[in-house]
Amino acid sequence: MGASDAVQVHFVQQDAWTMEEEEIYDVIASNGLNIYVDDEQAQALYAQFLKALKPRGVLVTSFLTPPPMLDAQSPWKMDQLDMAALAKQRALMQDVIDAQWIHFRTEQVMYKHLVDAGVMDVKVIYDSKGGVSNGCGL
Ligand SMILES: C[S@@+](CC[C@H](N)C(=O)[O-])C[C@H]1O[C@@H](n2cnc3c(N)ncnc32)[C@H](O)[C@@H]1O
Repeated sequence: MGASDAVQVHFVQQDAWTMEEEEIYDVIASNGLNIYVDDEQAQALYAQFLKALKPRGVLVTSFLTPPPMLDAQSPWKMDQLDMAALAKQRALMQDVIDAQWIHFRTEQVMYKHLVDAGVMDVKVIYDSKGGVSNGCGL
């Protein structure tokens, strides 16, 4: 790659809920942000992203699918999960950190949030173990 091929990257540090940009991005990727907030705040986030995207822009996002103990319709493929790792993660998040902020969502709920926010075409891609995840959540 020569100097003339160099890509300019511009970093901005800001609250995703108060972005002021309008119709300037072709793609927005957001992973692991909607896990912190309730449904109303999550929808507000997607609406904000849509405002910042160009009309034919693409939002790449993810969500935490609910575990079977929380939802009988859970897509988790328990036979393919590392149960020891899962037990450790659960102990850490529940017993040590006591995380109260994790919001799980089904595909149906996520779909509704995105469509209600104005997304025209939603495609959900599950990973091999029943999550829609980037490793930390969505
Ligand atoms: C679970 S992490 C995910 C990080 C990364 N996207 C990934 O996939 O590994 C969530 C990130 O959202 C950031 N975050 C939290 N609240 C935010 C806000 N209001 N606006 C923008 N980023 C925020 C956190 O600092 C953290 O880096």
